Amino acid sequence: VRIAFFQFCPTLHDKTDNLRRIRQALAHVEADLLVLPEMCTTGYLFPSKEALAAAAEPVPGPSTDALLKLSRERNTAIVFGLPERAGDRVFNSAALVTPQGDCHVYRKAHLFLDEKDLFAPGDLPFPVFEYAGTKVGMLVCFDHFFPEAARCLALKGAQVICHCANLVLDVAQTTTRSRAIENRVYWILANRTGFETLGKSTLHFTGASQVVAPDGAILCHASADADEVCIVEIDPVRALDKHATPRNDLFQDRRTDLYPPTLR
Ligand code: ACM
Repeated sequence: VRIAFFQFCPTLHDKTDNLRRIRQALAHVEADLLVLPEMCTTGYLFPSKEALAAAAEPVPGPSTDALLKLSRERNTAIVFGLPERAGDRVFNSAALVTPQGDCHVYRKAHLFLDEKDLFAPGDLPFPVFEYAGTKVGMLVCFDHFFPEAARCLALKGAQVICHCANLVLDVAQTTTRSRAIENRVYWILANRTGFETLGKSTLHFTGASQVVAPDGAILCHASADADEVCIVEIDPVRALDKHATPRNDLFQDRRTDLYPPTLR
């Protein structure tokens, strides 16, 4: 199975341009699963809830339709971040679209900083989806700070965690490696690059996307500031084996008798 990310700097509030650039980047990608950054169709900063709601779309909707079409053309499942409108709420979501026409969604559970003023917190209990015989979970950016999120996905059988990000801190390369090791899963961190300014606020996004193997090996990584595609061949079967040593299965060795009910 060939997995990939496309790290880039989305054009703020310009879906047409971002979808064009994603299409252009994919023209050179032969992969089974490609992951894109958080909010990659619109960019990250919005001046108000109203502006965000105007840019947000239902899933499925126009942007998912465009990427479903691209997925079919390129024979590549695509995970991408977008603002999702559902009734009068807007979620910071990731969608998985497949060449077979499936469209799945995950809604960011752990909102970061001022996202708390703009988005509704995710209400989906870490769903896992099967694609091409592999179980896939999605997370969005700040979710990486919460080991429970990845653990929920892994306990449900996720072999590959697709992590759409707009990181502004520099710890995710470490945390995602830990999450991969402790859950024995593959991890695709697709971060963005560049700056965004809105009023007095400027954010610098830190790139350095990476793919991590279940033993913590970094299979590929990107620079801090360039548009980059990375593609690696993985064996998802490896993520079914939870042994850290011959006598330590990390799932069977969990002491659920000692953990509080919420962590079992
Ligand atoms: C983040 O959650 N976008 C840092």
